[in-house]
Amino acid sequence: MGQLMRCFWQPFALSSELPHADSDPIRVKLLGEELVAFRDTRGQVGLIQNNCPHRGASLFFGRNEEAGLRCVYHGWKFDVDGTCVDMPNEPAESDFRNKVTAATYPTVDRGGVVWAYLGPGSAKRPAPPELEWTHVPESHRIVTKRVQFCNYLQNVEGEVDSSHVSFLHSRNSAADSAGIRSDDLRTTLPNYMARDRAPRFFVLPTEYGVLIGARRDAESDSYYWRITQFLMPSYTMIPSPTGAPVSFTGATPMDDQHMMGFTATWHPDRPLTAAERAQIESWTGVHTEVDPKTFKPLRNRDNDYLIDRSVQRSGESYTGIRGIREEDLAVQESMGDVCDRTTEHLGSADLAVIAMRRRLLEAVRTFQERRETPYEARNPDAYRVRSAALVLPRDVEWHTGAAHALIASK
Ligand code: FES
Ligand SMILES: [Fe+2]
Repeated sequence: MGQLMRCFWQPFALSSELPHADSDPIRVKLLGEELVAFRDTRGQVGLIQNNCPHRGASLFFGRNEEAGLRCVYHGWKFDVDGTCVDMPNEPAESDFRNKVTAATYPTVDRGGVVWAYLGPGSAKRPAPPELEWTHVPESHRIVTKRVQFCNYLQNVEGEVDSSHVSFLHSRNSAADSAGIRSDDLRTTLPNYMARDRAPRFFVLPTEYGVLIGARRDAESDSYYWRITQFLMPSYTMIPSPTGAPVSFTGATPMDDQHMMGFTATWHPDRPLTAAERAQIESWTGVHTEVDPKTFKPLRNRDNDYLIDRSVQRSGESYTGIRGIREEDLAVQESMGDVCDRTTEHLGSADLAVIAMRRRLLEAVRTFQERRETPYEARNPDAYRVRSAALVLPRDVEWHTGAAHALIASK
């Protein structure tokens, strides 16, 4: 699975963590590797092995200067490609410098996020996925990052599992999972979810992953459809009513027991309003409030997510935990660092979880057989999609009725 993940571009930092040329290097743990990221004098982000190729000191302490990162132990300096460009403790006539390189990975800034490709050779390197939020102006989006203390797949499972929304995220004053709604749907959609808590699931394979439809009864002649996108290898789009901002989540594995979660909320056609930004920054929705240095959520497993049992008892919220993301964290992290799937009991409401896992396992098998860049990674244009939440007449096929809402702008 790790080899497969390496074939996809991975978001690993907010661009603002490396705010300007020659800004401070940061530590990065990505797909089990200890790395250091730095933005060089030209603005290009380097992602380099943590331990200096000389004798292993951490390059995190390095001097980021004049288009390279210089190890503070003996002054060896590397550029973003890993070339050793200076070796000041060796004789000037020595060519030893040309025999030493550091491992580095290509990066790109997109959508306020820095992405890395850790896969094989540059000839096989695909273009990054053409996700709509990475192309809209900065005013149209908010992107946040958190560290989550469990295997990345537990997060992806939660994102594709529309059934939990009627429980985990339910409120007496029901709220939509994205926390943002267009006015006319403000009450009706959450009410449908509160009323019908056993949605029927439908899944369709797509070029980029799986399209997931969760159907609930709406009125006597209509259904309420929550349509989630699962995009290989670990991205999702949470259902969002037409005209409202859309939310993306990405789960980047740091190692088997830790992940970085990226959440982007964007409006395709206009800047986010002050009210929408204020709602996101109230940290009650899918974006979470974190320590700005460590990205650890403030309501976390060490403080039981500040659960308030009186709120839970009153039914004001189902959990007594403030914030949709924190509710997700509580259940996903409590499943264990790596959940033991041999003891679970999957029901019909877990159909999307099963379909997502199958898609990943199939991709692993194909990759093991062919050793080529996965189909999805080679088709970045297929990622121009959105999620949807809409009411359709009962006799309309869900993916046909929602087709117009699922296409992103170019
Ligand atoms: S350990 Fe880095 S230059 Fe010596
Ligand atoms: Fe959730």
